Amino acid sequence: MEYKKLVREHYKKEAEKDQLSINSTMADLNTRRLEIKNIVAFLKANKKCLEVGCGNGAASIEISKSRKLDLLSVDFSPEMIALAKKQPTFGAKGKIKFQEEDVLELKYKNIFDFVFTERCVINLLNQDDQKKALKNMADALKPGGSLILLEAFDDGFQKLNSARKNLGLEPIAPAYHNLYLDKDFVIGYLKSQNLEFVKESKFLSSYFFGSRVIYPFFAKAVKKDIKYNTAFSRFFSFLPSFGNYSQIKILLFKKIKK
Ligand SMILES: C[S@@+](CC[C@H](N)C(=O)[O-])C[C@H]1O[C@@H](n2cnc3c(N)ncnc32)[C@H](O)[C@@H]1O
Repeated sequence: MEYKKLVREHYKKEAEKDQLSINSTMADLNTRRLEIKNIVAFLKANKKCLEVGCGNGAASIEISKSRKLDLLSVDFSPEMIALAKKQPTFGAKGKIKFQEEDVLELKYKNIFDFVFTERCVINLLNQDDQKKALKNMADALKPGGSLILLEAFDDGFQKLNSARKNLGLEPIAPAYHNLYLDKDFVIGYLKSQNLEFVKESKFLSSYFFGSRVIYPFFAKAVKKDIKYNTAFSRFFSFLPSFGNYSQIKILLFKKIKK
């Protein structure tokens, strides 16, 4: 099966399973909360924004509650977009519109002040398609605009698995429908598209070290099942973040004004 069909099928099932829930595609609510908080931190009010791979729109609405935006949120899954259009928008500031679009087919040129993702580009299962998605998002930005890439990257993932190995834990494997990004490749490729790398935010590092290394180690020692959203794990989500122990992170880029 061509990979896109496989990925669409995956998100169709996710849409059926989790409906309008904020848990949709992210069962870990601490990760979800920190993702939203850290995306919002980079967004400025009253700006034209494009969100790529918005899923059921629950996170888009939460982001819109914190920042007044003119937001277009797109996704290639018809089931996800149908759900997003049903989300209650009470409390959202500014404008929000949901639309079915494939990142590989985006045609926007120099329109948006911000383009952001939350774990979308990793669903493109070869590097050529990842490049095309990055290019389409770069093209959509106005000169001076910012790209906020919240994605999963190999470097943090390897550090996380090394720490697990130190404690005798099995490595975590990426999901079958994900291809994690190579940070240096992304920075180099976006440079060729006129986007300069501004900063990296490893906002989940301490939380992942606690919830994916320390917690499973103790859970194994006391023969308890590993669960999401335990009080034990939650503690780590309040720590300042240090190190590079999470695959999920934000890379921030700015489109150079010519
Ligand atoms: C991990 S989910 C995240 C959804 C949402 N950002 C969230 O945080 O809840 C990834 C989303 O990317 C979408 N996606 C995957 N490939 C895509 C593509 N080629 N174009 C647009 N959206 C895509 C999927 O349908 C899915 O909703």
